[in-house]
Amino acid sequence: MYYGVDYYPEHWPEERWAKDARLMVEAGFNVVRLAEFAWSRLEPQEGTFAFDWLDRAIDLLGRSDISIILGTPTAAPPPWLTTRYPEVLIVNFQGMRMAPGGRRHCCPSSPIYRRLSRRVTREMAMHYADAPSVIGWQIDNELSYGAAPRCYCPACQRAFQDWLRERYGSLDALNAAWGTVFWSQVYTDWAQIPVPLPSGADHNPGLLLDYDRFQSDAYVSYAREQLDILRQVCPTHFVTHNIALPLLNTINNYDLGADLDFLSEDSYPGFWQILSQTEFGRGIGGDMTPEMVSMICAWGYDAIRGNKNGEPFWVMEQQSGPAGQRIFSPSPRPNQLRLWAYQALARGARAITHFRWRTCTFGAEEYWHGVLDHDGVPRRRYFELQKTASEMNALGDALPMAQTQSDVALIFSYDSDWAIGIQPCHPKLSYAFQHIGYYAPFYFANVPIDIVSPDADLSPYKVVLAPTLYVLPPGLAERLRHFVHRGGTLIVGFRSGVKDEHNRVVPQPLPGLLAEALGVEVVEYDALYDRPQSVRFLVPELGEGAACELWADILKPTTALDGTTEAQVLAEYTQDYYAGQPAITLNRWRQGQAIYIGAGLSGEALGRVLVGLAMQRGVAPLLSTPQGVEVARRNADDGEWWFILNHTPLPQSVDLPAPFVDAFSGALVEASIQLQGYDVHVLTPET
Ligand code: GAL
Ligand code: ZN
Repeated sequence: MYYGVDYYPEHWPEERWAKDARLMVEAGFNVVRLAEFAWSRLEPQEGTFAFDWLDRAIDLLGRSDISIILGTPTAAPPPWLTTRYPEVLIVNFQGMRMAPGGRRHCCPSSPIYRRLSRRVTREMAMHYADAPSVIGWQIDNELSYGAAPRCYCPACQRAFQDWLRERYGSLDALNAAWGTVFWSQVYTDWAQIPVPLPSGADHNPGLLLDYDRFQSDAYVSYAREQLDILRQVCPTHFVTHNIALPLLNTINNYDLGADLDFLSEDSYPGFWQILSQTEFGRGIGGDMTPEMVSMICAWGYDAIRGNKNGEPFWVMEQQSGPAGQRIFSPSPRPNQLRLWAYQALARGARAITHFRWRTCTFGAEEYWHGVLDHDGVPRRRYFELQKTASEMNALGDALPMAQTQSDVALIFSYDSDWAIGIQPCHPKLSYAFQHIGYYAPFYFANVPIDIVSPDADLSPYKVVLAPTLYVLPPGLAERLRHFVHRGGTLIVGFRSGVKDEHNRVVPQPLPGLLAEALGVEVVEYDALYDRPQSVRFLVPELGEGAACELWADILKPTTALDGTTEAQVLAEYTQDYYAGQPAITLNRWRQGQAIYIGAGLSGEALGRVLVGLAMQRGVAPLLSTPQGVEVARRNADDGEWWFILNHTPLPQSVDLPAPFVDAFSGALVEASIQLQGYDVHVLTPET
């Protein structure tokens, strides 16, 4: 397995490099990522390239049998570039041009930035195509993560107009799709179409959704230009891209990943730990308990796997010390770095590189701690990862490409995410939180779950979850119906089926194209503010009752498609003028079931309902564990690995249903396994 670090030789005196290489080898690291952000050292002047220093670093590492991934350096353009071509700088949502000095400040549509990015990529690719230790490439860095994730510059406006022309063919079609008759916006020339900078009132929702799609496509095609060059010049190398947090919705990751060999994720559990202390964290809702941190990291791995058809992914940046820039996270506790690396492996990683090798003594990330401290001395973190490296290598060659298997799929739709962002309907309604609200109970119950694209094949699953499927194109509605018809269980949340693909509200009863399959009509809806609301369950298995927040759809069961029964009411409201009206329904259709959750159930109750309904359909947890202990499993033709991860500082004991073999010690484990605080065990079934 590839296991290593992200290394910046250009940050250190060359006399130190040999010692770094030796320490890496002694740690058991066999791969490094180099050169992303090194544009000003690789092309010191426009058109003049300097690879000598990188050649020497690669040569030295190669002689130590360390494989190399090269990053194309385009996330950090050199000062000569932004000074000579200031029009490449992003214009943010307030119409303000970004200043150089940070990174990720160039417009993805800019023809000049694209041309210069292609050139440096081609020069690097030609120079390193045959370098023996180079195995692959990372395109740019975290394309979706910047202070100004959308650009509104004149180049983007022109590109948007071209994109629309391609998509709609005629202005008549565009005017009809957006409903531009509203507020006198009928366009008679493509050049009239604006970008959504501040206007006297809100922009058209159709334009706004298309702008999100267009900007995502701009980044995908920007990356595609580099990919084409790398494929052509370096046909034997892999090409990937490292995604910051899959939760960021700047770019449609399904599109971004489609043509890459695999996707990579950057994972910083410690950053989540301190997120609730920051402006951003307060925005996304308060305290991050340790349980939530583990859950959100697991979500990230399941999401990145799902972003590329369930295939194993690389963790290109795995936390290696206290993480942060101006402020930083607590020191990872002894064994926690190891635990975090195993969590990634457990949920589908094929390789891991830690960010970063040595903590830098200058620059904006002086406090983003590496494996080594500022002084370059190996200490606790180094020795912990050294142990991890030797264990991981002992786990064998089949594990990195082993699959994960789930009976439950959770649909993640960028269109719905973007459209809810445009019109949240309730100030606290967020697509991501609804989605994570559906994910979390399965994670905490140790039920494997796949996060899938709306285009994914649903046939392998017993249960499909679609929270807030706000934008529902006809093809997807048809596939969901088909899934139920064939015997699947579909669970749909409120605000689903509300919009068509042009972000217009559908003209039929909600949940629109799913109303028939769900056997239900939303007769009224209520955004919940401070008037209390709650539900009473009518089936004892789901418990007694639960408080509601955010939303209440008032439902009316309709005749089921087989014409015999009505959808069953599972819960009804207890307060206000709609007390006694249905809140959750279940429609049986042949062997299948379609459930509609119209009420915004508070966290614990939502989990009880979702996991309860799934278990009735044969979905089972891998193991039952004490709180804070996670279990995940990977399977290959010739092996199966169970990962038991103790995210708590306390010793824990987990009961086992059958004898296992401890993959580290080879010892037989029967009846139960004991874990120290932050410990990990990898078990294989006894055969
Ligand atoms: C990532 C990024 C790295 C580094 C790291 C720590 O988001 O890809 O380049 O910035 O965070 O801040
Ligand atoms: Zn732009």
